[in-house]
Amino acid sequence: MSGVTDLPFRQLAFRYGAGLVVTEMVASRELVFNAAESWSRLKGAGLDPHMVQLAGREPRWIAEAARIAEANGADIIDINMGCPAKKVIGGYAGSALMREPETALAIIDATVKAVNVPVTVKMRLGWDDQSKNAPELAKAAEGLGVAAITVHGRTRMQFYEGRADWDAIAAVRDAIRIPLIANGDVESRDDALEILRRSGADAVMLGRACQGRPWHVGVVAGHAAPAPASIPVIAEEHYRMMLEHYGAEVAVRHARKHVAWYLERHGAKLDDAQRAAIMTSKDPEFVAVRLRQALSQALESQCEEAA
Ligand SMILES: Cc1cc2nc3c(=O)[nH]c(=O)nc-3n(C[C@H](O)[C@H](O)[C@H](O)COP(=O)(O)O)c2cc1C
Repeated sequence: MSGVTDLPFRQLAFRYGAGLVVTEMVASRELVFNAAESWSRLKGAGLDPHMVQLAGREPRWIAEAARIAEANGADIIDINMGCPAKKVIGGYAGSALMREPETALAIIDATVKAVNVPVTVKMRLGWDDQSKNAPELAKAAEGLGVAAITVHGRTRMQFYEGRADWDAIAAVRDAIRIPLIANGDVESRDDALEILRRSGADAVMLGRACQGRPWHVGVVAGHAAPAPASIPVIAEEHYRMMLEHYGAEVAVRHARKHVAWYLERHGAKLDDAQRAAIMTSKDPEFVAVRLRQALSQALESQCEEAA
């Protein structure tokens, strides 16, 4: 997830049992032309396998970016055909590619030919209700040598509205023999078992349910959850990993959404002034310590309520 699954987030998800984690989408052309942010998104230290997602609209740039990613340690290349954002679809990238199957297949073909590592594709059900072409596109992608397909059970026009249609993913299952990964609105282990049953998929991908708890994908996969008492410690460690990864100035801004997710998800009880102090502070030491304290206090009050 763009802006979320950076290296620190993926390292934590992996540590707590995620089987596979994927980078934020990396803009292909920007990577080829050396944009610092694209290079930062490419990093995968300590992750095995290291899966890199590329976005773009031109076969040659995606193929070249895939070569660069492979040369820099990517074990799997994923192609983004699911992002609904205007910035991405404006230039026929992301889910707009589902409306341009010829371009989509040219991109896939060029990428598969460019690298030795497996290439996978992430898509939606289609552009809108009238054009749910994921089964055909997935089958054609399989024919070009793609190793696995992920389907988010919404159309592009749904953006993130409504509920993901887990049954509709089954049409892709019927069309392909390669592994299928089902995605959309999975929150719990029960949800994961249900999406597997309804879609016939081989694996499940989680996104937003992991915000404020990077260990959650491991928990859904059957690993033990971290003890509640360690959550404040993990949150502080996560924050410090971001400081290390981005450098303090950038990290303080990037980390704010993670801080907000931790506070919200784990029931921190802060008044407006306390909350604003954490959310607007430019002092990383202050934020790291206050985040841990706020989560510890939340934990204590939950224990008292339970006692
Ligand atoms: C903030 C945000 C950023 C996202 N960035 C990406 C991305 O870079 N690549 C991608 O394939 N999907 C991206 N997605 C879509 C998610 O991977 C996923 O398909 C979608 O959120 C549905 O799954 P979920 O209900 O488990 O979150 C993003 C979603 C969100 C909310």
